[in-house]
Amino acid sequence: MTKKLYHGAAYYPELWDEKVIEEDIKLMKEAGINVARIGEFAWHTMEPEEGKIDISFFVNIINKLYENGIETVMCTPTPTPPIWFTHNHPERMYVNQNGETMGHGSRQHACTNHPYFRQKANEITEHIAKAIGHLPGLIGWQIDNEFKCHVSECMCKTCQGLWHEWLENRYETVENLNEAWGTKIWSEYYHSFEQVPQPHPAPFLHNSSLSTKYRQFSMEKIAEFSDSQAEIIRKYSSEPITHNSNIPFAVDNERLFENLDFASFDTYATQENKASYLMNCDLWRNFKKGKDFWIMETSTSYAASLESYASPHANGYLKAEAVAAYALGAEAFCYWLWRQQRAGCEQPHGSVISAWGEPTVGFQGVLEVEEMRKKIEPIMISTRPLQAEVALTYSDQAKAYFQTEPHQQMDFRGLVTNFYHHFVSLGIHRDVLPESAHLEGYKVLFTPFLPHISDEYRERAVEFVKNGGTWIVGPISGGRTGEHTIHTDAALGKLEEVSGVKALYTYPLDGTGSKGTAFGESAPLGLWSTVFENDETTVGTIKGGNSEGKAFLTESKLGNGKIVHLGSLPIGEEGDILLKKIIDHYVTSADVTVRTNVSNGTIVAPRVGENSTQTWVIVNMDGQGGQVDLPAEAIDEFSRESVSAGKFEVGPYEYRVITFK
Ligand code: GAL
Repeated sequence: MTKKLYHGAAYYPELWDEKVIEEDIKLMKEAGINVARIGEFAWHTMEPEEGKIDISFFVNIINKLYENGIETVMCTPTPTPPIWFTHNHPERMYVNQNGETMGHGSRQHACTNHPYFRQKANEITEHIAKAIGHLPGLIGWQIDNEFKCHVSECMCKTCQGLWHEWLENRYETVENLNEAWGTKIWSEYYHSFEQVPQPHPAPFLHNSSLSTKYRQFSMEKIAEFSDSQAEIIRKYSSEPITHNSNIPFAVDNERLFENLDFASFDTYATQENKASYLMNCDLWRNFKKGKDFWIMETSTSYAASLESYASPHANGYLKAEAVAAYALGAEAFCYWLWRQQRAGCEQPHGSVISAWGEPTVGFQGVLEVEEMRKKIEPIMISTRPLQAEVALTYSDQAKAYFQTEPHQQMDFRGLVTNFYHHFVSLGIHRDVLPESAHLEGYKVLFTPFLPHISDEYRERAVEFVKNGGTWIVGPISGGRTGEHTIHTDAALGKLEEVSGVKALYTYPLDGTGSKGTAFGESAPLGLWSTVFENDETTVGTIKGGNSEGKAFLTESKLGNGKIVHLGSLPIGEEGDILLKKIIDHYVTSADVTVRTNVSNGTIVAPRVGENSTQTWVIVNMDGQGGQVDLPAEAIDEFSRESVSAGKFEVGPYEYRVITFK
């Protein structure tokens, strides 16, 4: 890929005739679309009959787009196996948790572990890679589409066999499994791996170990499928490979991207969910550190299907979203979709062009994005996102633990997003890091909502602390083993040994009238909590409830740094104030400097140039306009005029780019 900023759209030329395709290409050029993503649902067009594969339609499209200055990301079409694959073959289909077998007619209906699926998927991908891999217009690949977005763990017979194999590889003997899972409970005891069930319908809940391991098994299998597809493509093409993923899907994104070349995600966050949009950018930047990510899909205005629709973006918001993404490390900002579908189940979905070939309500926004893209491109190319000093761990493994044990319908994504939001409103530049990311260059690490802290993670964090870092652990972190069981040495296992704290009880503080006080603020505490002994490590104490006088916040010195246990979540409005106070306290005392005094609704994305000069992209995202304090004199990148230190204003949805001297 040559270095540029991409502005793209998902395109389905197989659904339209030649005249419409001509018109589309003309309109794409007018709208400033420089990359199209194609092919992800077109298996039938490529292989209308089993074994009769012809990719020439897509070869022509890619060439035609290229002649018109539009490059292509080619997808493999494996989410939609055609009718010849599915008809009369229930054994090849996905089986859901209720034991229902999926039929033909939507997508993700096949079991991606079925050997015949794998065989046919490999074949089609090999044909595509051969036919397309060398085309000059091709700049990248996308494997499949949104793995596990509609489905999660498959319960078919194929998966059952693979599950048993997986368990055997992992535990070696069934006795090891019995011991690890504590299967004497409720007479679950197994005499062979073949007896271990899938988490199929049962009168009450399954053993937590079984449920979580099945999720891990499934996440591993889909990543293996992606690996094998990537391997085939690499035989014929040197263009980089990605997958368009997202946080809520039943995948382990960190594992998935391990063998891919760049990270990309899809987002349909509405304007109210700006925090989730920004968190995605801060996370996806870190799946392939140092490499730009792609926003592979977003709507120009609103998402919709036959059954629902979201609120359209306000005029001006799309540009704010796009500039924030580019500034936070995106190389591409792409829409789903170019031309509104005329058929199928997503006809109402927002697009760039309507089914009848005219601009949609989102079109003006697309033009604004393009105008902005051209303006910022040279600056984005000559600078990189600045590594933050504050890191927040995000883990899809934790997501799996929460799916097995949601306590009270808690979902990991929601919990982390709310926690994350405080960093944005405190103007703290942050990286959201996958679990095994290195911690060099960070000053503060937050590990909330990670039920299982692996030895590897703990050791890395302890190293970080010994070297002077501050590690804030909790809430709900560390209380479960790698088998999703309870520690039997101490409530938080080895963690207590390293921090020297004594956890007394773990129980929910909601509704108990417990209030936490720390740093002069006080608020109700909630969620599943860990209560600590009140001793020399205590920083925050509990008033009221069952644990009057005990601690919910502790601090222990270790090497040159400290470990902080946050045992409970401050809740409600007062809770937000207290939590912010706690975050602010540790970020301030760790001398975090990459931080801005910015008004709510406006963000600063700091970037760094070759000679270490800092460039700030300041974006108002709430349409209210805002301001930020500039710590020093700077240059406005567009007017080239000098701007003085002090208050700096941005208008509604406006963006400004300034570089410090
Ligand atoms: C994504 C999917 C697209 C389209 C879009 C609609 O999840 O990848 O194919 O369905 O949602 O918002």
